[in-house]
Amino acid sequence: MSMNEYIGIDLGTSGAKFLLVGADGSLIADSLQTYPVHYPKGGWSEQDPEDWYAAVCRGVKALIGGRDASRVRGISFGGQMHGLVALGGDGAVLRPAILWNDGRSAAQTEYLNGVIGKDRLSACTANIAYAGFTAPKLMWMRENEPELYSRISSVLLPKDYLVYRLCGKRVTDVSDASGTLFFDVKNRRWSEDACAFSGAKAEWLPEIKESYEIAGKLRPDVARELGLSEDVTVCAGAGDNAAAAVGTGTVCDGDCNISLGTSGTIFISSDRFVLPENNALHSFCHANGSYHLMGCILSAASCNSWWADGILGTKDYVAEQAGAEEICGNNHVYFLPYLMGERSPHNDVDARGAFIGMRPDTTRKHMTLAVLEGVAFALRDCAEAVRKNGIKFTSVSVCGGGAKSALWRQIIADVLNVKVRRLSVDEGPAYGAAILAMVACGEYTDVRTAAKKFATEAGSTQPDETRVAAYEKRYAVFRSLYPALKNCYSMMSEVSKN
Ligand code: XUL
Repeated sequence: MSMNEYIGIDLGTSGAKFLLVGADGSLIADSLQTYPVHYPKGGWSEQDPEDWYAAVCRGVKALIGGRDASRVRGISFGGQMHGLVALGGDGAVLRPAILWNDGRSAAQTEYLNGVIGKDRLSACTANIAYAGFTAPKLMWMRENEPELYSRISSVLLPKDYLVYRLCGKRVTDVSDASGTLFFDVKNRRWSEDACAFSGAKAEWLPEIKESYEIAGKLRPDVARELGLSEDVTVCAGAGDNAAAAVGTGTVCDGDCNISLGTSGTIFISSDRFVLPENNALHSFCHANGSYHLMGCILSAASCNSWWADGILGTKDYVAEQAGAEEICGNNHVYFLPYLMGERSPHNDVDARGAFIGMRPDTTRKHMTLAVLEGVAFALRDCAEAVRKNGIKFTSVSVCGGGAKSALWRQIIADVLNVKVRRLSVDEGPAYGAAILAMVACGEYTDVRTAAKKFATEAGSTQPDETRVAAYEKRYAVFRSLYPALKNCYSMMSEVSKN
């Protein structure tokens, strides 16, 4: 009998990754489809949901190619989190999606944290407000686009918009809902109180599912368009970080994963609900039925692509990073990776990138290395919050585009003083999404069993004692830089408003 196949899709920020995966976890085909991010103003970021749907059509067709599509049983997503997709009564998108790294809603975030108060927010949602979260964006729309706001009949997260297009059902999953600030994470349901704080109407919100549950069946017209059978099951899926955790086997209590994508995250799986000290980490539902903690920096691999592609004009990252290892631990240049402001731990939409410490003998190599190190230091800030909560971790798995760099993996091992593990399938969220589809379709009994079966280690990087000590000193310098610049950042934002 032929093996069932599943499609896992990672709806990322720079593009969408598509995987066709056999029920035994084997990779059969893959495809990458890109789309633009629009930055209408400094610190704002938007995408056209239609671009996502067009990418899904291209990506699924590319996966299937000349293959026998009748083996495909399920399709699922890991999606960029927090984005606001507002639909009108006719199901049409009202405005471009406002993304997870958009900082326009600083005033609304301040209102939620200051006037409603962090304690009340945290009591209902387990989290405090960040400009990237969905609730302050919806409030921004109410204040700045009242006419469009008056036409809202649905509020969806990015991947949920695709689920809606594919099967016609308004569904979200617990992991993605956790990042809206409308959601009671502990009890895995919408929070009436939190909705009231931001003015969201209960009827706008989609039905909640666990990440490994079914959303619906492909619409016949979509099945025809994609070249798939109408019997294909569309699954609820997960936020990209929870999906990545499934794809990297980060599913047991205390397991830790670092993702180096457009954002950088440190993700700790937890069997029980935890409220971290001072809400310094996000407390969200996991895609395996349990919970997780997470710190998120807004710019990670995107700093490297900004610096290499955008400024230096090279896509050859391997050549660009060659030789930098010799100055690891000894670099005199520091880089603050706050190109889009910063979420964890600073919660500051005005923060911006900075190089500091240059001298006449500074070379391009020092600056390239400083970018990789700056991202690792910012992740260390998140790791410190994890450790402050009494969570000890001595090894992490890594995924995302940045994880392909052996140098970057070594720097992370040295800066965090942990063993860094690579998986044999390096595809994080898309692979996790395929696993969720398998569980939803009954191929495996539960997410933990399937994820642990498939996520096998392909190699690891150990921290180097001498460099750990050197980076300890450099991290102390890095930590002092943001407080020193904080006021300058708010003055800079006053001066240049666009
Ligand atoms: C997580 C977050 C990012 C996006 C990126 O809270 O905002 O990791 O999900 O895709």
